[in-house]
Amino acid sequence: MSHHANVADRGTHRDQVLPVRCMSCGAVHNGDRPITKCPDCSGLLDAVVDTDGRLRPEDFHRTPGTPAATSGVWRFAPLLPAIPQEAIVSRWEGNTPLYGDSRLADYAGMSQGEIRVKHEGHNPTGSFKDRGMTVAVSHARAIGSALVACASTGNTSASLASYAAAAGLPSMVLIPEGKISAGKLAQTIAFGALVVQVEGDFDVALRLLRELTADGSVYLANSVNPFRPEGQKTIVLEMLDQLEWQVPDVIALPGGNLGNTAAFGKALTEAHETGLIDRLPRIATIQAAGSAPFAAYYASGFDHYEPIQAETIATAIKIGDPASLERARRTIEQTSGWVVAVSDEEIMDAKAFIDGIGIGCEPASAASLAGVRKLVGQGEIAQDASVVCVLTGNVLKDTDAIATYHLQDSDTGPNPRANRPVSIPATMEAVKRVVDDAIHG
Ligand code: F0G
Repeated sequence: MSHHANVADRGTHRDQVLPVRCMSCGAVHNGDRPITKCPDCSGLLDAVVDTDGRLRPEDFHRTPGTPAATSGVWRFAPLLPAIPQEAIVSRWEGNTPLYGDSRLADYAGMSQGEIRVKHEGHNPTGSFKDRGMTVAVSHARAIGSALVACASTGNTSASLASYAAAAGLPSMVLIPEGKISAGKLAQTIAFGALVVQVEGDFDVALRLLRELTADGSVYLANSVNPFRPEGQKTIVLEMLDQLEWQVPDVIALPGGNLGNTAAFGKALTEAHETGLIDRLPRIATIQAAGSAPFAAYYASGFDHYEPIQAETIATAIKIGDPASLERARRTIEQTSGWVVAVSDEEIMDAKAFIDGIGIGCEPASAASLAGVRKLVGQGEIAQDASVVCVLTGNVLKDTDAIATYHLQDSDTGPNPRANRPVSIPATMEAVKRVVDDAIHG
């Protein structure tokens, strides 16, 4: 693809290559180069896709011989940027299950309602990030970037490392030293990324990386890159497809850097504009109480925002100054959504519950169910609502959190859902005693 001059063209995108539009000033720019903020005003950018025509579910073809045949992202190509097919790096991402289990609604206190979970932990590297990364790394490849990079709390780095390796591109990740889970770090190392551990938190790492990549010599794969959220839109599109385009009342998801919240709003408005759905569900973004600057911003009526020093056991969403704040605000406003904070105890209880019914997820993911429970308790979500909770990461992503919850006492003794292994001598008598206890209690 050729490198165009920087042409700002307010209002129209027809002549642009991979157009992106600034959400602050409305200027449209070419996206045929690394571009992560508006060259005119530094605002956040959205990829522009054509929503003038009507779309029908049948338009999402699984055309044989194309990435759409196997990818749960690229099959939604009519609502994605037109990246040349030969540049696409796909690992059969997406295609994730939408599970139902009546115990989920019981847990949340929704006696006549229904909760399903969209399990993004079933992606190739175990998190939803793969959906965004297939688009970002394909874009990087299309425009000839030499090095792709991200700052991460662990999942983005594992995903970027994998997709870059698949594409044969070198990658670099900036992670907060000692603050991401061992499994995520292991994945990132294994996939061959250059791992740079920063003495600081995620927010510091992202700030450094945004400065480093400002001149476009290194490709920034974080969700401020407008092409990343495009792939993540397909969580919503695939979910709607699985629901036969019947819109649920509420979609709940955890919020950290808020790229996903932004992507969900964009997916829903585009699905609405193209006639795929006739109404919008309400988005509930759930934050960890120690990392909830967006929830505080929401509580102020979006009047007052303050970054914070983040703390939470859910390290994936331990973020104090989310980059996609204003795009996420737009989602909440457009869908009459909510932003709530839940404590680490509430997150770990919901996680132990989800794990305990055989589904499993990492701590951050369980914030979605904990948040729904809270919103039901507050009377915000109706008892008979239909809800989809997005589980963003796999249960194996954070085994330390599992050990801490189940094996260590809290201040009041064992945690309520703790499941402790028992140790026995190697005798049949001892085994039988354990079996007897298991059967008779
Ligand atoms: N859930 C998980 C498992 C995540 O890894 C993240 C973000 C989120 C939720 C929040 O999504 O940032 O779009 O609001 N993880 C990023 C990372 C920050 O670096 O892996 P968000």
